[in-house]
Amino acid sequence: MKQIVLVIGAKGMLGTDLMTVLRAALPNDEVVGWDIGEIDIQKEEETLTKIEKLRPSVVIHLAAYTDVDGCELDEKRAFAINAEGTKHVALAVSRCQAKMVYLSTDYVFDGNKREPYLESDSPRPLNVYGRSKLQGEQYVQAWAKEALIIRAQWLYGRYGKNFVTSILRQANEKKVLSIVDDQIGSPTYTFDLAEAISVLIQFDARGIFHVANSDLCTWYAFGQTVLRLSGMEKVRVIPISSKELGRPAARPSYSVFNCQKLKRETGLVLRPWSEAVQDYLTIQGLTAGGPENQEKQGEK
Ligand SMILES: NC(=O)c1ccc[n+]([C@@H]2O[C@H](COP(=O)([O-])OP(=O)(O)OC[C@H]3O[C@@H](n4cnc5c(N)ncnc54)[C@H](OP(=O)(O)O)[C@@H]3O)[C@@H](O)[C@H]2O)c1
Repeated sequence: MKQIVLVIGAKGMLGTDLMTVLRAALPNDEVVGWDIGEIDIQKEEETLTKIEKLRPSVVIHLAAYTDVDGCELDEKRAFAINAEGTKHVALAVSRCQAKMVYLSTDYVFDGNKREPYLESDSPRPLNVYGRSKLQGEQYVQAWAKEALIIRAQWLYGRYGKNFVTSILRQANEKKVLSIVDDQIGSPTYTFDLAEAISVLIQFDARGIFHVANSDLCTWYAFGQTVLRLSGMEKVRVIPISSKELGRPAARPSYSVFNCQKLKRETGLVLRPWSEAVQDYLTIQGLTAGGPENQEKQGEK
């Protein structure tokens, strides 16, 4: 029987890739994408009515206030969207007896463990964004029974502003870049994450799963790799500390996931981050000698 799979946050960076992946993976289902234009999850009544009227079998909830420093400066908004908004979605899902999938973050951890985080490790967020997403997780666990919670990290993709686009923009504007070298994680391509979400849904997985591209690095090493692959290795990069960068929100210095549960339950292991970013840059025509760079050389 044809099922309705609803994606909330479908026009975001991950949501856009996920819509493509799900429509290809579930050709017999109807994949519906909503974003802020169709539903405001901060509004309880609207969220309940709209979701209940659609009667989906699966709801994948990605909508969030994802500006980590913005959350630090506007705690009320962060909790209204990431925590209360998630509660409204979870409530609607339970009324429809649908399956809930919620996207959470590595920022639920404080980074003090210094070895890859397991799903069973105790969260202790350092910033408002992490606390609001953790409260979202707790609402999902309380309201939407048998939910699937996927924690992701360090995302970049074709359909949103991200670290890679920011580094390439800055490299075109400046001769010297400063990048933080005291945070370790695994950069993750939204397309690879979207495929993992699709697989987890098809396996009917429940509980918490950590998902990230393999291998780890600092933002500094990630930035250097992006510049090298884009033929911009001449741009000088200076490693700096998070303190020197002085962002409003504290970040964990170590947020590496142990993804063995994903492997055990689905057989899936995401490729190394360096392969994924090479693919991303190639698709975007941003590798050394790619169309974007050839155009730039032609302009000189
Ligand atoms: N980006 C990362 O590095 C990262 C890491 C770990 C986990 N995650 C999680 O992964 C999910 C997807 O992240 P992303 O980077 O793809 O985020 P994104 O690009 O910011 O997409 C989120 C979408 O939600 C929409 N939205 C915001 N408030 C809403 C509301 N009240 N009602 C309905 N829609 C609303 C946004 O619209 P506007 O753009 O108009 O606000 C946007 O289209 C999020 O849950 C995030 O917390 C992200």
